[in-house]
Amino acid sequence: LLIFSGQSNRPLARAIAEALGLPLGKSTTTKFANDNLFVRFEESLREGDVFIVQSLTPPVQDHLMELLMLIDAAKGASAARVTAVIPYFSYARSDKKDAPRISIAARLVADLLQTAGADRVLTMTLHSPQVHGFFKIPVDHLSAEPVIANYFATRVEHLEEAVVVAPDAGDLKRASALARRLALPLAFIEKTRLSDTEVEARSLVGDVRGKVALIIDDEISTAGSLVKAVDTLLEAGAKEVYAAVTHGVYVGPAVERIAKSPVKEVAATNTCPPKDHPKLRTLDVAPLF
Ligand code: R5P
Repeated sequence: LLIFSGQSNRPLARAIAEALGLPLGKSTTTKFANDNLFVRFEESLREGDVFIVQSLTPPVQDHLMELLMLIDAAKGASAARVTAVIPYFSYARSDKKDAPRISIAARLVADLLQTAGADRVLTMTLHSPQVHGFFKIPVDHLSAEPVIANYFATRVEHLEEAVVVAPDAGDLKRASALARRLALPLAFIEKTRLSDTEVEARSLVGDVRGKVALIIDDEISTAGSLVKAVDTLLEAGAKEVYAAVTHGVYVGPAVERIAKSPVKEVAATNTCPPKDHPKLRTLDVAPLF
């Protein structure tokens, strides 16, 4: 078994290798003057069971291309099997044709991974679980739920007074599973997306008055959804608000928005490289991978 890493999240790849008691394989990625990428494995892969760890974090296109080239190079170097380990699969957000003349990019990327030579995919918390079905090769779809449940259970005092909150309809199943696991009630915010970075909270279903609200979401990108949900919950009488997500992508204004928000703390797993701020916590999912 051989583990390699692209450039997007080497600390996670190292932690996964360490959890398995294996060294991280050596590879090189550079860019030519004309912006073309160049990748090369620095050791033999012949007949190896090769795992390539690459999160699709920004710059997504560079990281995706690097992953495709690493898969292609591994196949060309006679690896017996190549597994693309994609802890954060960003294109899962482009999962439907919800406007005319657009690309369902999640399916396109699934096809590209197969074309490059991937035999399997290992990923975590796809934006919508149906994206699993876009792949014609086997996919192992991990969930961060046990790690998130443990975070809330150990971090939140008086957990019995808490309520789990789905910040939009897409999160209802995830939130309901977490609520069941923690034996807590569930609330739900009806969210409308106004733009890539702005959302509107239209209504809140469920009783949050006097309770600690625990938001669960698949990812934080610009943190627009999160800060709106926090404000809605506090306006509705919640005592305090915690949030935990699988993918802390934290792009653009995200960290600043969280810093200014009355949210007590925000936790994200290390599928994306952690950002540094006293309100942010990192949950390790390397052992799950
Ligand atoms: C949206 O449907 C997802 O579940 C997340 O809520 C969303 O991706 C977060 O994006 P942002 O942080 O930019 O609001």
